[in-house]
Amino acid sequence: MILSSHRRSLSRRGAMELFGSLLQRFRQRVYIQDAVVVITGASSGLGKECARVFHAAGARLILCGRDQARLQELVQELKEIADGKRKTYSPSTVTFDLSDTETVSSAAEEILKRHGHVDILINNAGISYRGMVLTTHVDVHKEVMGINYFGPIALTQAILPSMVQRRSGHIAVISSIQGKIAIPFRSAYAASKHASQAFFDCLRAEVEQYGVLVSVISPGYIRTNLSLNAVTGDGSRYGVLDKNTAEGQDPQKVAEAVLRAVGCKKEDVLLAGLLPTLAVYIRTLCPHLFFKLMASRARKEQRPKQD
Ligand SMILES: NC(=O)c1ccc[n+]([C@@H]2O[C@H](COP(=O)([O-])OP(=O)(O)OC[C@H]3O[C@@H](n4cnc5c(N)ncnc54)[C@H](OP(=O)(O)O)[C@@H]3O)[C@@H](O)[C@H]2O)c1
Repeated sequence: MILSSHRRSLSRRGAMELFGSLLQRFRQRVYIQDAVVVITGASSGLGKECARVFHAAGARLILCGRDQARLQELVQELKEIADGKRKTYSPSTVTFDLSDTETVSSAAEEILKRHGHVDILINNAGISYRGMVLTTHVDVHKEVMGINYFGPIALTQAILPSMVQRRSGHIAVISSIQGKIAIPFRSAYAASKHASQAFFDCLRAEVEQYGVLVSVISPGYIRTNLSLNAVTGDGSRYGVLDKNTAEGQDPQKVAEAVLRAVGCKKEDVLLAGLLPTLAVYIRTLCPHLFFKLMASRARKEQRPKQD
Protein backbone atom coordinates (compact mmCIF):
# COMPACT_ATOMS: atom_id res chain seq x y z
CA MET A 1 0.00 0.00 0.00
CA ILE A 2 2.74 2.41 1.14
CA LEU A 3 4.88 1.26 -1.80
CA SER A 4 2.20 1.96 -4.40
CA SER A 5 1.43 5.45 -3.03
CA HIS A 6 5.20 6.16 -3.04
CA ARG A 7 5.36 5.00 -6.68
CA ARG A 8 2.35 7.19 -7.57
CA SER A 9 3.98 10.26 -5.97
CA LEU A 10 7.25 9.56 -7.83
CA SER A 11 5.49 9.32 -11.19
CA ARG A 12 3.54 12.51 -10.39
CA ARG A 13 6.83 14.27 -9.63
CA GLY A 14 8.35 12.92 -12.89
CA ALA A 15 5.36 14.20 -14.88
CA MET A 16 5.63 17.64 -13.21
CA GLU A 17 9.36 17.81 -14.00
CA LEU A 18 8.73 16.85 -17.62
CA PHE A 19 5.97 19.47 -17.89
CA GLY A 20 8.29 22.09 -16.29
CA SER A 21 11.11 21.36 -18.72
CA LEU A 22 8.75 21.41 -21.75
CA LEU A 23 7.33 24.75 -20.57
CA GLN A 24 10.86 26.13 -20.14
CA ARG A 25 11.82 24.98 -23.63
CA PHE A 26 8.68 26.57 -25.08
CA ARG A 27 9.37 29.90 -23.31
CA GLN A 28 13.00 29.82 -24.53
CA ARG A 29 11.82 29.19 -28.08
CA VAL A 30 9.38 32.09 -28.01
CA TYR A 31 12.02 34.38 -26.46
CA ILE A 32 14.64 33.76 -29.17
CA GLN A 33 12.39 33.42 -32.24
CA ASP A 34 12.50 36.73 -34.22
CA ALA A 35 14.69 38.43 -31.57
CA VAL A 36 17.39 40.83 -32.82
CA VAL A 37 20.59 39.26 -31.47
CA VAL A 38 24.06 40.86 -31.75
CA ILE A 39 27.06 38.53 -31.33
CA THR A 40 30.59 39.95 -31.08
CA GLY A 41 33.53 37.73 -32.02
CA ALA A 42 31.30 35.77 -34.40
CA SER A 43 34.14 35.01 -36.84
CA SER A 44 35.61 32.20 -34.75
CA GLY A 45 35.27 29.69 -31.90
CA LEU A 46 32.39 30.09 -29.46
CA GLY A 47 30.98 33.18 -31.21
CA LYS A 48 30.70 31.29 -34.50
CA GLU A 49 28.93 28.37 -32.77
CA CYS A 50 26.60 30.82 -30.98
CA ALA A 51 25.77 32.30 -34.40
CA ARG A 52 24.84 28.82 -35.65
CA VAL A 53 22.60 27.92 -32.69
CA PHE A 54 20.88 31.33 -32.41
CA HIS A 55 20.30 31.34 -36.18
CA ALA A 56 18.73 27.89 -36.00
CA ALA A 57 16.55 29.14 -33.11
CA GLY A 58 15.09 31.86 -35.37
CA ALA A 59 17.03 34.94 -34.22
CA ARG A 60 17.66 37.93 -36.48
CA LEU A 61 21.44 38.05 -36.19
CA ILE A 62 23.92 40.90 -36.45
CA LEU A 63 27.36 39.29 -36.51
CA CYS A 64 30.38 41.34 -35.43
CA GLY A 65 34.12 40.86 -35.75
CA ARG A 66 37.16 42.47 -37.37
CA ASP A 67 37.38 40.25 -40.45
CA GLN A 68 34.56 40.96 -42.93
CA ALA A 69 35.54 38.06 -45.23
CA ARG A 70 35.25 35.47 -42.43
CA LEU A 71 31.96 36.94 -41.23
CA GLN A 72 30.62 36.86 -44.80
CA GLU A 73 31.61 33.19 -45.14
CA LEU A 74 29.54 32.43 -42.03
CA VAL A 75 26.58 34.46 -43.35
CA GLN A 76 26.72 32.40 -46.56
CA GLU A 77 26.82 29.14 -44.59
CA LEU A 78 23.84 30.16 -42.45
CA LYS A 79 21.83 31.36 -45.48
CA GLU A 80 22.16 27.90 -46.99
CA ILE A 81 20.75 26.22 -43.87
CA ALA A 82 16.98 26.01 -43.72
CA ASP A 83 15.37 23.09 -41.91
CA GLY A 84 11.85 24.23 -42.80
CA LYS A 85 10.66 23.68 -39.20
CA ARG A 86 11.41 27.20 -38.01
CA LYS A 87 11.51 30.63 -39.62
CA THR A 88 15.13 31.75 -39.96
CA TYR A 89 16.62 35.05 -41.11
CA SER A 90 19.61 35.97 -43.22
CA PRO A 91 22.17 37.55 -40.82
CA SER A 92 23.88 40.88 -41.37
CA THR A 93 27.38 41.93 -40.31
CA VAL A 94 29.10 44.93 -38.72
CA THR A 95 32.90 45.02 -38.61
CA PHE A 96 34.84 46.91 -35.97
CA ASP A 97 37.74 46.63 -33.57
CA LEU A 98 36.71 46.49 -29.91
CA SER A 99 40.00 48.00 -28.81
CA ASP A 100 39.09 51.30 -30.51
CA THR A 101 36.28 52.81 -28.42
CA GLU A 102 35.61 55.55 -31.05
CA THR A 103 34.77 52.96 -33.72
CA VAL A 104 32.76 50.98 -31.15
CA SER A 105 30.27 53.85 -30.75
CA SER A 106 29.85 54.32 -34.52
CA ALA A 107 29.47 50.54 -34.86
CA ALA A 108 26.74 50.64 -32.19
CA GLU A 109 24.88 53.29 -34.24
CA GLU A 110 25.17 51.06 -37.31
CA ILE A 111 23.93 48.04 -35.31
CA LEU A 112 20.91 49.97 -33.99
CA LYS A 113 20.02 51.17 -37.50
CA ARG A 114 19.75 47.59 -38.84
CA HIS A 115 16.44 46.69 -37.13
CA GLY A 116 15.75 49.84 -35.10
CA HIS A 117 16.60 48.09 -31.83
CA VAL A 118 18.55 45.23 -30.22
CA ASP A 119 16.82 42.57 -28.12
CA ILE A 120 19.90 40.61 -27.04
CA LEU A 121 23.55 41.71 -27.07
CA ILE A 122 26.05 38.89 -26.60
CA ASN A 123 29.47 40.31 -25.66
CA ASN A 124 31.54 37.30 -26.64
CA ALA A 125 34.72 38.59 -28.37
CA GLY A 126 37.92 38.42 -26.39
CA ILE A 127 41.59 37.54 -26.29
CA SER A 128 43.66 35.65 -23.79
CA TYR A 129 47.11 36.17 -22.34
CA ARG A 130 50.03 34.00 -21.24
CA GLY A 131 52.90 35.44 -19.22
CA MET A 132 54.55 36.27 -15.93
CA VAL A 133 53.68 39.50 -14.15
CA LEU A 134 57.43 39.99 -13.62
CA THR A 135 58.13 40.31 -17.33
CA THR A 136 54.88 41.69 -18.74
CA HIS A 137 54.82 45.21 -20.13
CA VAL A 138 51.98 47.36 -18.79
CA ASP A 139 50.84 48.01 -22.40
CA VAL A 140 49.95 44.31 -22.66
CA HIS A 141 47.67 44.62 -19.61
CA LYS A 142 46.08 47.66 -21.28
CA GLU A 143 45.63 45.79 -24.58
CA VAL A 144 43.85 42.85 -22.92
CA MET A 145 41.70 45.17 -20.78
CA GLY A 146 40.90 47.21 -23.91
CA ILE A 147 39.49 44.22 -25.81
CA ASN A 148 37.98 42.18 -22.95
CA TYR A 149 36.71 44.99 -20.72
CA PHE A 150 36.61 48.55 -22.15
CA GLY A 151 35.40 47.39 -25.61
CA PRO A 152 32.39 45.40 -24.33
CA ILE A 153 31.43 48.09 -21.81
CA ALA A 154 31.64 50.80 -24.53
CA LEU A 155 29.40 48.71 -26.81
CA THR A 156 26.99 47.95 -23.95
CA GLN A 157 26.78 51.61 -22.92
CA ALA A 158 26.10 52.67 -26.51
CA ILE A 159 23.22 50.19 -26.92
CA LEU A 160 21.80 50.39 -23.39
CA PRO A 161 19.88 53.72 -23.67
CA SER A 162 17.67 52.31 -26.45
CA MET A 163 16.94 49.22 -24.30
CA VAL A 164 16.08 51.39 -21.29
CA GLN A 165 13.84 53.54 -23.48
CA ARG A 166 11.99 50.45 -24.75
CA ARG A 167 11.88 48.98 -21.22
CA SER A 168 13.19 45.76 -22.73
CA GLY A 169 16.50 44.15 -23.62
CA HIS A 170 19.03 41.56 -22.56
CA ILE A 171 22.80 41.89 -22.26
CA ALA A 172 24.83 38.69 -22.04
CA VAL A 173 28.55 38.51 -21.50
CA ILE A 174 30.82 35.55 -22.08
CA SER A 175 33.16 35.82 -19.15
CA SER A 176 35.23 32.85 -17.98
CA ILE A 177 35.76 30.74 -14.90
CA GLN A 178 38.82 33.01 -14.66
CA GLY A 179 36.39 35.82 -13.86
CA LYS A 180 35.77 33.97 -10.59
CA ILE A 181 39.19 32.51 -9.80
CA ALA A 182 42.65 33.76 -10.76
CA ILE A 183 45.31 31.30 -11.89
CA PRO A 184 49.04 31.95 -12.36
CA PHE A 185 50.41 33.24 -15.70
CA ARG A 186 46.99 34.59 -16.72
CA SER A 187 47.02 37.91 -14.78
CA ALA A 188 45.86 40.24 -17.58
CA TYR A 189 43.13 37.82 -18.75
CA ALA A 190 41.85 36.92 -15.27
CA ALA A 191 41.86 40.61 -14.26
CA SER A 192 39.84 41.59 -17.36
CA LYS A 193 37.28 38.83 -16.68
CA HIS A 194 37.01 39.70 -12.96
CA ALA A 195 36.43 43.34 -14.00
CA SER A 196 33.74 42.23 -16.46
CA GLN A 197 31.98 40.14 -13.83
CA ALA A 198 31.92 43.11 -11.44
CA PHE A 199 30.78 45.61 -14.10
CA PHE A 200 27.93 43.44 -15.35
CA ASP A 201 26.84 42.53 -11.78
CA CYS A 202 26.56 46.29 -11.03
CA LEU A 203 24.73 46.84 -14.31
CA ARG A 204 22.23 44.04 -13.56
CA ALA A 205 21.20 45.72 -10.34
CA GLU A 206 20.95 49.17 -11.97
CA VAL A 207 18.83 48.22 -14.99
CA GLU A 208 16.46 45.63 -13.53
CA GLN A 209 13.97 48.45 -12.83
CA TYR A 210 13.92 49.24 -16.58
CA GLY A 211 13.18 45.66 -17.60
CA VAL A 212 16.70 45.06 -18.95
CA LEU A 213 18.28 41.70 -18.09
CA VAL A 214 21.96 40.82 -17.63
CA SER A 215 23.46 37.31 -17.91
CA VAL A 216 27.09 36.56 -17.06
CA ILE A 217 28.15 33.20 -18.50
CA SER A 218 31.46 31.77 -17.30
CA PRO A 219 32.79 28.75 -19.17
CA GLY A 220 35.82 26.63 -18.37
CA TYR A 221 38.22 25.59 -21.16
CA ILE A 222 36.65 25.40 -24.65
CA ARG A 223 38.27 23.86 -27.75
CA THR A 224 38.88 27.08 -29.77
CA ASN A 225 41.75 29.21 -31.07
CA LEU A 226 41.81 31.34 -27.89
CA SER A 227 45.26 30.23 -26.68
CA LEU A 228 46.69 30.41 -30.24
CA ASN A 229 45.59 34.06 -30.44
CA ALA A 230 46.68 34.92 -26.88
CA VAL A 231 49.23 37.71 -26.32
CA THR A 232 52.37 37.23 -24.26
CA GLY A 233 54.23 39.55 -21.89
CA ASP A 234 56.09 41.31 -24.71
CA GLY A 235 52.95 41.72 -26.83
CA SER A 236 53.79 38.95 -29.33
CA ARG A 237 51.30 36.20 -30.21
CA TYR A 238 51.51 33.06 -28.02
CA GLY A 239 50.70 30.82 -31.02
CA VAL A 240 50.33 27.55 -29.07
CA LEU A 241 47.22 25.41 -28.74
CA ASP A 242 47.39 24.61 -25.01
CA LYS A 243 46.68 21.06 -23.84
CA ASN A 244 43.85 22.34 -21.59
CA THR A 245 42.27 24.23 -24.50
CA ALA A 246 42.71 21.34 -26.96
CA GLU A 247 41.01 19.03 -24.44
CA GLY A 248 38.36 21.62 -23.55
CA GLN A 249 34.59 21.51 -24.01
CA ASP A 250 33.05 21.20 -27.46
CA PRO A 251 32.25 24.79 -28.57
CA GLN A 252 28.93 23.67 -30.06
CA LYS A 253 27.81 22.23 -26.70
CA VAL A 254 28.88 25.45 -24.94
CA ALA A 255 26.95 27.51 -27.52
CA GLU A 256 23.84 25.40 -26.85
CA ALA A 257 24.31 26.05 -23.11
CA VAL A 258 24.62 29.80 -23.87
CA LEU A 259 21.33 29.63 -25.82
CA ARG A 260 19.64 27.90 -22.86
CA ALA A 261 21.10 30.37 -20.34
CA VAL A 262 19.94 33.38 -22.37
CA GLY A 263 16.60 31.78 -23.30
CA CYS A 264 15.91 30.98 -19.63
CA LYS A 265 17.07 34.49 -18.58
CA LYS A 266 19.69 33.10 -16.18
CA GLU A 267 21.64 35.75 -14.28
CA ASP A 268 24.91 33.95 -13.65
CA VAL A 269 25.96 30.62 -15.12
CA LEU A 270 29.12 28.60 -14.63
CA LEU A 271 29.79 26.16 -17.48
CA ALA A 272 32.68 24.12 -16.12
CA GLY A 273 33.50 20.60 -14.93
CA LEU A 274 33.59 19.35 -11.36
CA LEU A 275 37.20 20.29 -10.48
CA PRO A 276 37.08 23.92 -11.71
CA THR A 277 33.67 24.34 -10.04
CA LEU A 278 35.15 22.97 -6.81
CA ALA A 279 38.02 25.48 -7.16
CA VAL A 280 35.48 28.35 -7.18
CA TYR A 281 34.02 27.06 -3.89
CA ILE A 282 37.49 26.56 -2.35
CA ARG A 283 38.45 30.15 -3.31
CA THR A 284 35.33 31.43 -1.50
CA LEU A 285 35.22 29.14 1.52
CA CYS A 286 38.89 28.34 2.10
CA PRO A 287 41.00 31.04 0.37
CA HIS A 288 44.26 30.05 2.12
CA LEU A 289 44.08 26.54 0.64
CA PHE A 290 43.30 27.98 -2.82
CA PHE A 291 46.33 30.33 -2.67
CA LYS A 292 48.62 27.43 -1.62
CA LEU A 293 47.35 25.30 -4.51
CA MET A 294 47.92 28.15 -7.01
CA ALA A 295 51.45 28.82 -5.68
CA SER A 296 52.25 25.14 -6.08
CA ARG A 297 50.83 25.21 -9.64
CA ALA A 298 52.98 28.29 -10.44
CA ARG A 299 56.12 26.54 -9.16
CA LYS A 300 55.32 23.43 -11.21
CA GLU A 301 54.60 25.34 -14.41
CA GLN A 302 57.54 27.74 -14.00
CA ARG A 303 57.58 28.42 -17.68
CA PRO A 304 54.07 29.50 -18.75
CA LYS A 305 54.35 27.73 -22.14
CA GLN A 306 54.46 24.32 -20.44
CA ASP A 307 50.70 24.05 -19.60
N1 LIG B 1 38.35 29.02 -25.31
C1 LIG B 1 38.28 28.96 -23.99
O1 LIG B 1 38.90 28.10 -23.35
C2 LIG B 1 37.41 29.95 -23.24
C3 LIG B 1 37.07 29.68 -21.90
C4 LIG B 1 36.29 30.59 -21.22
C5 LIG B 1 35.85 31.75 -21.83
N2 LIG B 1 36.19 31.99 -23.12
C6 LIG B 1 35.73 33.24 -23.72
O2 LIG B 1 34.98 32.97 -24.89
C7 LIG B 1 35.02 34.12 -25.75
C8 LIG B 1 35.26 33.67 -27.19
O3 LIG B 1 36.58 33.18 -27.31
P1 LIG B 1 36.94 31.89 -28.18
O4 LIG B 1 37.38 30.84 -27.24
O5 LIG B 1 35.87 31.59 -29.15
O6 LIG B 1 38.27 32.42 -28.93
P2 LIG B 1 38.59 32.71 -30.48
O7 LIG B 1 38.28 31.51 -31.30
O8 LIG B 1 39.99 33.23 -30.49
O9 LIG B 1 37.57 33.87 -30.87
C9 LIG B 1 37.74 35.17 -30.39
C10 LIG B 1 36.84 36.11 -31.15
O10 LIG B 1 37.02 37.44 -30.62
C11 LIG B 1 37.24 38.34 -31.70
N3 LIG B 1 38.15 39.43 -31.35
C12 LIG B 1 39.40 39.33 -30.81
N4 LIG B 1 39.95 40.54 -30.68
C13 LIG B 1 39.03 41.43 -31.14
C14 LIG B 1 39.01 42.85 -31.27
N5 LIG B 1 40.06 43.61 -30.94
N6 LIG B 1 37.89 43.44 -31.79
C15 LIG B 1 36.83 42.69 -32.16
N7 LIG B 1 36.79 41.35 -32.06
C16 LIG B 1 37.88 40.73 -31.56
C17 LIG B 1 37.88 37.50 -32.78
O11 LIG B 1 37.63 38.13 -34.01
P3 LIG B 1 38.73 38.26 -35.20
O12 LIG B 1 38.30 37.28 -36.21
O13 LIG B 1 38.60 39.65 -35.67
O14 LIG B 1 40.09 37.93 -34.62
C18 LIG B 1 37.16 36.17 -32.63
O15 LIG B 1 35.97 36.17 -33.38
C19 LIG B 1 36.10 35.04 -25.18
O16 LIG B 1 35.51 36.10 -24.48
C20 LIG B 1 36.86 34.13 -24.22
O17 LIG B 1 37.47 34.86 -23.18
C21 LIG B 1 36.94 31.12 -23.85
